[in-house]
Amino acid sequence: MYFDTIQKTTVIREEPLILGIESSCDETACAVIRGRKILSSEIISSATEQAKYGGVVPEIASRAHTEAVDEVVERAVCKAGVTLKEIDAVAVTYGAGLLGALLVGLSFAKALAYSLGVPLIAVNHIRGHMAAAYLDDEALQPPFITLLASGGHTAIIHTKSYTEFEVLGATLDDAAGEAFDKVARVLGLQYPGGPNVERLAREGKNNIVFPKMLKGEGGYNFSYSGLKTAVINYCHTMEMKGQEYSRADVACSFQHAAVDVLIQKAIRAAKEKHLSTIVAGGGVIANGYLRQTLEIACKAEGLKAVIPARQYCTDNAAMIASEGLIQYKAGNFAPLDTNAKAAIPLR
Ligand SMILES: Nc1ncnc2c1ncn2[C@@H]1O[C@H](COP(=O)(O)OP(=O)(O)OP(=O)(O)O)[C@@H](O)[C@H]1O
Ligand SMILES: [Mg+2]
Repeated sequence: MYFDTIQKTTVIREEPLILGIESSCDETACAVIRGRKILSSEIISSATEQAKYGGVVPEIASRAHTEAVDEVVERAVCKAGVTLKEIDAVAVTYGAGLLGALLVGLSFAKALAYSLGVPLIAVNHIRGHMAAAYLDDEALQPPFITLLASGGHTAIIHTKSYTEFEVLGATLDDAAGEAFDKVARVLGLQYPGGPNVERLAREGKNNIVFPKMLKGEGGYNFSYSGLKTAVINYCHTMEMKGQEYSRADVACSFQHAAVDVLIQKAIRAAKEKHLSTIVAGGGVIANGYLRQTLEIACKAEGLKAVIPARQYCTDNAAMIASEGLIQYKAGNFAPLDTNAKAAIPLR
């Protein structure tokens, strides 16, 4: 009944007020956007609690979401300077992610959309990462090449329109973020690993030769598992020989090997597809070395780089609202029996 009524009666606005909710991992997040403008973006994270266990414990994440969701939504609405009654649609991550964690955000969003009598929009978390750039550059329009590098995904995508994509290449094993997290563990750094590897890398030199995975070969595919193993082997060999080595140099050399290939392949894809823009998204894009190198490389090649601010690369709800806006414009609303999904393809 709700779904039928919503589909028949919703008038699509040009600049709708969209509330986004994200709870797929250890961040409970809510954001409000008007058109492509971010009015608020709030996050309550259980990362400090999770760090004690060296990674995300699903049950701890779910419990933290149930405690935080109410407050984070209230904060986001309040900071946006709007009232709930003004919201035109509620967008929420329905997958991929931890099932229990997703269910908290999804259930809250369903209740909110139903009580406000507005559409519910079910968002694929990865499509959210890909849509973050639309908030960074309000004039950005497809087509372009998307460089996606997150905790669970690494891909070069030809974004043909707001809703059509072609995955040109992806990781064959570990994702870039996963490699950062695993290398962090080998170097004795705390969870979350990526930012800590970056911090340590700043003190080191790029003077250890690690394999640049599928640099020339493999089309647009990546493989991070060989690089990760090379780092582990290097550290273990040095330790077994009782030789001193610089952890900072390992971090720096790994970071170069992990990042350079991403950028080279993204640029090659833009040239081969005759596209002038590279858009970046996902947690690894928060990496300072990657951001700077991508910016410089694009400039040198006469390409435009759209790199969202760091807080919109790692998990956040503004990106969910951004993808929500695309789905809203397409009239793609979700019924109230929409279920959470642990794994979903990009499309
Ligand atoms: N500064 C950084 N340098 C390198 N990696 C980083 C940095 N900041 C975050 N990361 C990495 O980004 C990942 C987290 O980002 P993201 O939100 O995209 O992952 P996720 O939500 O767990 O995975 P996915 O989005 O693929 O489902 C982690 O692997 C983390 O180590
Ligand atoms: Mg993510």
